[in-house]
Amino acid sequence: MFVEVNDVKKSFQMSRQKETLQVLDGISFSADQGEVVSIIGPSGCGKTTLVRILAGIEKQDSGSIKIENHEVTGPGSNRGMVFQTFNLFPWMTIEQNVGIGILDLPEEERKKRVETYLAMVNLQGFEKYHPHQLSGGMQQRVGVARAMALEPKVLLVDEALANVDAQTAEQLMDQLLQVFAKTKKTVIYVTHNMDEAIYMSNRIVVLSKRPSKVIQVLDDELPTPRWEKDTRAMPEYGQLRTTLRKSLGLAR
Ligand SMILES: Nc1ncnc2c1ncn2[C@@H]1O[C@H](COP(=O)(O)OP(=O)(O)OP(=O)(O)O)[C@@H](O)[C@H]1O
Ligand SMILES: [Mg+2]
Repeated sequence: MFVEVNDVKKSFQMSRQKETLQVLDGISFSADQGEVVSIIGPSGCGKTTLVRILAGIEKQDSGSIKIENHEVTGPGSNRGMVFQTFNLFPWMTIEQNVGIGILDLPEEERKKRVETYLAMVNLQGFEKYHPHQLSGGMQQRVGVARAMALEPKVLLVDEALANVDAQTAEQLMDQLLQVFAKTKKTVIYVTHNMDEAIYMSNRIVVLSKRPSKVIQVLDDELPTPRWEKDTRAMPEYGQLRTTLRKSLGLAR
């Protein structure tokens, strides 16, 4: 397996109290190369915590994470992250923002990557703009281009569409799927949105509320490429949605 998460546990010390808050209670799942695996679960169950552990910016209490058989022990350029808040530097231009993670590359190579990934998210022509001159959806695409510019083996996406409107989110889903397909990226895709999880994934890992465990892992075998078909109108889509709702405890 390309990404292996094995029995990861994590608690936080509550400030000024002796108590600890157990967040992750033995999470295990895996992702094959080129697969999009969604993580879905109720608010506060520890999805962001899990992504931060995968990114190496938070340390688990126990359990292990391996990428291509190498244990994750800290941040590294084999992982790129797309955040819920766009986290762009307002004083930098779009091209500077996209190139921020690859400053150690020779200038030519850096320029080429910035150009490639801005084009991939359909933002050519906006290189010299500043973030405040772009819409929310465009800013999120800059965030995606920035993560992609690292050419990471694994892309970690945390609620990337939570701050854009529903129509923009639908368009961005298609653009993201196209980028994932073009680059054959392995993606861990966190969302609280069932439709997003179904549309975007090859597999869906359902988490319980805190302290969270994996309730179920659902295979998502809807036909691809999904943007070419009316995927959301397919009977299989409805069936998967019902299964997912049941798994999340939202339906009997
Ligand atoms: N650094 C921290 N110190 C203490 N508690 C934390 C810390 N980070 C997260 N938590 C707690 O861990 C729990 C899980 O938080 P997390 O952000 O991972 O949830 P989430 O599933 O991403 O929620 P949401 O869907 O709302 O984004 C929360 O109760 C939160 O208060
Ligand atoms: Mg979160």
